[in-house]
Amino acid sequence: EKGGYEHFMLKEIFEQPTAVFDCLRGRLDAKAGTIRMGGIDKHLELLKEAKRIILVGCGTSWHAGLLAEYVFEELCRVPVEVEYASEFRYRNPVINPGDVIIAISQSGETADTLVALENAKNQGAFIFGVVNVVGSSIARLSQAGAYTHAGPEIGVASTKAFTAQITVLYLIAIKLGYAKGSLSRDRYLNLIGELALIPDKISEVLKSAPEVAALAEKYKDARDFLFLGRGYNFPIALEGALKLKEISYIHAEGYPAAEMKHGPIALVEESLPVVFVATKDAYHDKLISNAQEIKARKGKVLAIISENDTVFQDIADETIAVPVADEILAPLLSVVPLQLLAYYTGLAKGLDVDKPRNLAKSVTVE
Ligand code: F6R
Repeated sequence: EKGGYEHFMLKEIFEQPTAVFDCLRGRLDAKAGTIRMGGIDKHLELLKEAKRIILVGCGTSWHAGLLAEYVFEELCRVPVEVEYASEFRYRNPVINPGDVIIAISQSGETADTLVALENAKNQGAFIFGVVNVVGSSIARLSQAGAYTHAGPEIGVASTKAFTAQITVLYLIAIKLGYAKGSLSRDRYLNLIGELALIPDKISEVLKSAPEVAALAEKYKDARDFLFLGRGYNFPIALEGALKLKEISYIHAEGYPAAEMKHGPIALVEESLPVVFVATKDAYHDKLISNAQEIKARKGKVLAIISENDTVFQDIADETIAVPVADEILAPLLSVVPLQLLAYYTGLAKGLDVDKPRNLAKSVTVE
């Protein structure tokens, strides 16, 4: 059942080219330049007119929501909020007609997410589900939706469900942005073409698994890890830290890279690995200065970079290169080495990577 892999987590990490491909299949037609999604097509006017989009989820699904905030604001020019379901459900949020809630959940059974949605629905919000498990409670409560089609995820840590979630969210944002006219036809076609290339690029990234395993062996005894990123890669820094915590029990924190100066920099010393999610984008020069600041304080810089980024290679102690991609879509590549880092670190420490202590696959109690 593990298809020749030692663990479900590794199998599911390696299934990502297929998971993303399956998620695009039947929806994205790069040649025709079209995106077809039943749940969106049917409610296109309502979505175009949304006054606000509120993304709701927990854990890794919340990270997918955070990335979607950047993407929807850029491509659709609509105000977006991202909410932890557990906070949203209790704090008497202001919800108005015209608000669209996008619920993100792998299992479709997370108690906090479910109740948050029930409350919002009662207040008149429209609920759109991005869910993996067909027929689950959240799928049933949603008034429209798009399944992620990642297939069953058995490992407790979410991997392929995350990349499928963000793929669906990209599709929605690209489609909606074009329909609203906030995305030009050229940019729309360009993003569609780039998205179609992603499954093969993820396969390329997976070839770095032995390199990541060697890094894991080298840094497995670190007490803490810091993960830094900016822009589209900031949510990926959070996700990298969460994965490492869950699977290796090493304390890890994710931060927007520039926030480092406002506190976390006090932690930097020789024994602290700092992982930069540093694929080339509009913020690249700033990230380079942040990495230099870590080096100046003798921290270890580990970086996920775009291939042929010689500048970062010179600064960093260790680099893992991923293929060049559009900056908006790069998180689909940059997250993969971080999933592998968590997996191989847990493995090197002799831990149960598929069933980390204290965690359940689906959190049906609050
Ligand atoms: C992390 C992880 C959890 C889930 C969270 C939400 O690896 O798996 O953080 O993402 O419990 O679960 P779903 O997506 O099923 O609502």
